[in-house]
Amino acid sequence: MNLNLKVWRQDSPQEKGKMVDYQLGGISEHMSFLEMMDVLNQQLIDNGERPVAFDHDCREGICGSCSMFINGEAHGPVKGTTTCQLHMRSFNDGDTIFIEPFRANAFPVLKDLVIDRSAFDRIQHSGGYISVNTSGNTQDANATPIPKENADLAMDAATCIGCGACVATCKNSSAMLFVGAKISQYALLPQGKVEAKERAQNMVAQMDSEGFGNCTNTGACEVECPKGISLTNIARMNREFLDGSVNS
Ligand code: SF4
Ligand code: FES
Repeated sequence: MNLNLKVWRQDSPQEKGKMVDYQLGGISEHMSFLEMMDVLNQQLIDNGERPVAFDHDCREGICGSCSMFINGEAHGPVKGTTTCQLHMRSFNDGDTIFIEPFRANAFPVLKDLVIDRSAFDRIQHSGGYISVNTSGNTQDANATPIPKENADLAMDAATCIGCGACVATCKNSSAMLFVGAKISQYALLPQGKVEAKERAQNMVAQMDSEGFGNCTNTGACEVECPKGISLTNIARMNREFLDGSVNS
């Protein structure tokens, strides 16, 4: 395949970025999108130019670091798929492909396609944990029966990989799908009850202080989430927040 790439290039957070055109040939339809980016970078290195900075780690759809806007969609055109799991067979020979970083005030661009998602880490630190007795007398997890429906829903919420596509897609740059998932994975389990009253309060306060917007129920986040995180997690987050407000 021969491709016409339009890639966002930005040297630093302070610099103004711009789209730059690259012609790329010899791309196999079996390559992943990131392998195509590797080929582009090798071409740039061979030409003595700076390669495109982009985040990646697992390349298996697990770590959530390969966040890019591809042709105007977070993680590209295939639903339920991260950029690293997207393959070039989803594109055609001669295509023009626009490649940009996720954009939100709370996710400043560091370089090219790399954004600073540490706001998500700070939200997690504010309440996305449980206390576990590590004294040596830890109770076996299987000793606490959990209804299968709750276990399944908690597992569904826990599949959120923290990629930020929900934020990048939302016109309000809302992080509520992410925070809703991180609250839900504990709210549905007995192990999460100990800190439940403060968890939603603290995580929502941190979310607000990071500059994320509010949810206005457009549902775009759910559509673009590569892990299919449901909007019902936002409703659960709101219930947990209200419960914490009334009963604290
Ligand atoms: S809710 Fe979905 S889109 Fe948002 S961070 Fe989690 S996995 Fe990514
Ligand atoms: S590189 Fe880990 S999810 Fe894509």
